[in-house]
Amino acid sequence: MEIPKWKTKNLLGIESLSKFEIRKILTLAKKLKHEPAKNKSYLAGKSIVNLFMEPSTRTRIAFELAAKTLHADVISIAEKSSSLTKGETLRDTALNIQALGADAIVLRHSSPGSPLLLSRIIDVPIINAGDGAHEHPSQALLDVYTLEEKIGPLDGKKITILGDILFSRVARSNFWALSKMGAKVTLAGPSTLVPKSFESMGAIVSHDLKESLADADAVMLLRIQHERQSSSHFPSLEEYTRIFGLNKYRSKWLKKDAVILHPGPINRGVEIDSELADSGNSVILDQVTNGVAVRMAILCLCTLSYNK
Ligand code: CP
Repeated sequence: MEIPKWKTKNLLGIESLSKFEIRKILTLAKKLKHEPAKNKSYLAGKSIVNLFMEPSTRTRIAFELAAKTLHADVISIAEKSSSLTKGETLRDTALNIQALGADAIVLRHSSPGSPLLLSRIIDVPIINAGDGAHEHPSQALLDVYTLEEKIGPLDGKKITILGDILFSRVARSNFWALSKMGAKVTLAGPSTLVPKSFESMGAIVSHDLKESLADADAVMLLRIQHERQSSSHFPSLEEYTRIFGLNKYRSKWLKKDAVILHPGPINRGVEIDSELADSGNSVILDQVTNGVAVRMAILCLCTLSYNK
């Protein structure tokens, strides 16, 4: 298979991508998912460095598996095992990784804009694996992929993202991706976590759970991102669950065959009941599986568009 041409070596976010570019990534992901393993040596001889400055299970492993499946060498570094703990800056760390011969850097960092910053300093492709509360582009792409696989084209579909929108990079990237693909996106949750100002982006904002779920084709649950909140935005987790938690009774407000998504990690019994997370409507593990194919497509496009 010929890997299509790609205009930019970096993947920093979804906001700057067109619908055409999103489709290009998803089409390649679908081909890679179904291509025999022996034909997937597109990145043989390349070295991918995963630089994860925040914890991760799904994203880091999926990028590792994607790189290995494409026959790249892959090295993963966590903050605690790097010289960042000795006072080295992120800039110097990235320059050293480049000097060591990396062909792409996958970066997760707590500071919004850190992938953009690195992309202006170093030459090798930078792939954003989540920057603070800003963007998580590979997550949104795998979510669109999974939704299209489960409910078909997204044009006109009602998709509700429910939970801690304010502090969520997943919500931002998904809002851009889903609305570019034609979906009607509702952002729902308590007013302290879903400010009305999101309407200026083109989202429907709702603080009424029943209204936000009514006739939705899909709902994406988000956990409360305690690690990014400096103060509490609601009285208690119990109260959050009582008013906004998704349970079997409330799921009946959705369309009958609506699918339930969650980027993980799930806080069972808080934003979602276990019964629903493990139900036939849940596509949570499909999201995880599709994350490998989508990240294969991202690594191919970004790495191969860059010539040292
Ligand atoms: N969805 C997601 O980013 O999960 P991890 O933090 O485990 O990578």
